[in-house]
Amino acid sequence: MYNSKIAGLGFYVPDNIVTNDDLSKVMDTNDAWIQERTGIKERRFIKKGEDTTTSMGVKAAKIAMDRAKIAAEDIDFVVFATLSPDYYFPGPGVLVQRDLGLRTVGALDVRNQCSGFIYAISVADQYIKTGMYKNILVIGSEVHSSGLDMTSRGRGVSVIFGDGAGAAVLSREEDLTKGILSTHLHSEGVHAEELVLKAPGMGGRWVSDILKDNDPNDESYFPYMNGQFVFKNAVVRFSEVIMEGLHKNNLEISDIDMLIPHQANLRISQFIQQKFKLKDDQVFSNIQKYGNTTAASIPIALTEAWQAGQIKSGDTVVLAAFGSGFTWGSVIIKW
Ligand code: UT7
Repeated sequence: MYNSKIAGLGFYVPDNIVTNDDLSKVMDTNDAWIQERTGIKERRFIKKGEDTTTSMGVKAAKIAMDRAKIAAEDIDFVVFATLSPDYYFPGPGVLVQRDLGLRTVGALDVRNQCSGFIYAISVADQYIKTGMYKNILVIGSEVHSSGLDMTSRGRGVSVIFGDGAGAAVLSREEDLTKGILSTHLHSEGVHAEELVLKAPGMGGRWVSDILKDNDPNDESYFPYMNGQFVFKNAVVRFSEVIMEGLHKNNLEISDIDMLIPHQANLRISQFIQQKFKLKDDQVFSNIQKYGNTTAASIPIALTEAWQAGQIKSGDTVVLAAFGSGFTWGSVIIKW
């Protein structure tokens, strides 16, 4: 058995900054409401034709591979987490294999929304633990902007989300006291429709009927979220799954050097911080700049925390996420 370690990290966000004031020009919202309820000041949106989920993932991956000093021919497997793939099928994993010129290695797509990167890390970790693979590219990337309802009807959802990508190279670690110590995954599908994008899944519908009806009021192509219900579940599940990870490793809350929560809402992160009595420099937040980038949020935040020198060798780093599914999970790392 081996452990896996994070050997390199990278992220990419589009240059195009969209402020809360910009949103208030196209829908009935305002900067004060968005900042007070979510902490978000601005987010990045791609410009038409400039980027896709895959192209951003590839850019983030190249940075992570450079930093890990891992060449394309040394990548053994790809795991790509997203809810916004370029194509309905095939998924972006194979596009990364193509665009990075990897060997004909396996490429797996993970569909676990906000928990996607945690699930992806967990999958990659198992392959490395067993010795099957040595270096795995794990990517989380999202283009939300092209799929949001940018009218007042969609304001409860659309103001939260942003575009971006993050990536990690996971590599074999022979010291079993270091690297990823454990991963913890959960789901509760009874709440599947509380945070959902129904189309283009067919769910009993026929494409021919959808095209024939061509209904401009068909909201199934926009994400739906029961915000307060999601919020209430998030704070409970975040706390539970962080504690589950700590207990598994005989760690206490006081052992956490850095908690990187999925950047869903600054209020959720602050709730956890207060509950666990963590200091400001023990919980990383960058949702103010990027909004909620779903599967990309943890690798972007992890990269920024690492770049800022806020994660050092020997630190206990905790990653945690909650989102659509519902799904939630955590990762405990000895850096
Ligand atoms: O990342 C995946 C997991 N997602 C999450 O964890 C998100 C969890 N939920 C949330 O973050 C929050 O529920 C939201 C930020 C989405 C919404 O905040 P809220 O405090 O729960 O607001 P609300 O939905 O209860 O809406 C309160 C009021 C309503 O008006 P009335 O009925 O009180 O008159 C909304 O119509 O705010 C109104 N509202 C807005 N006003 C201005 C909703 N969206 C907006 C908006 N701008 N963008």
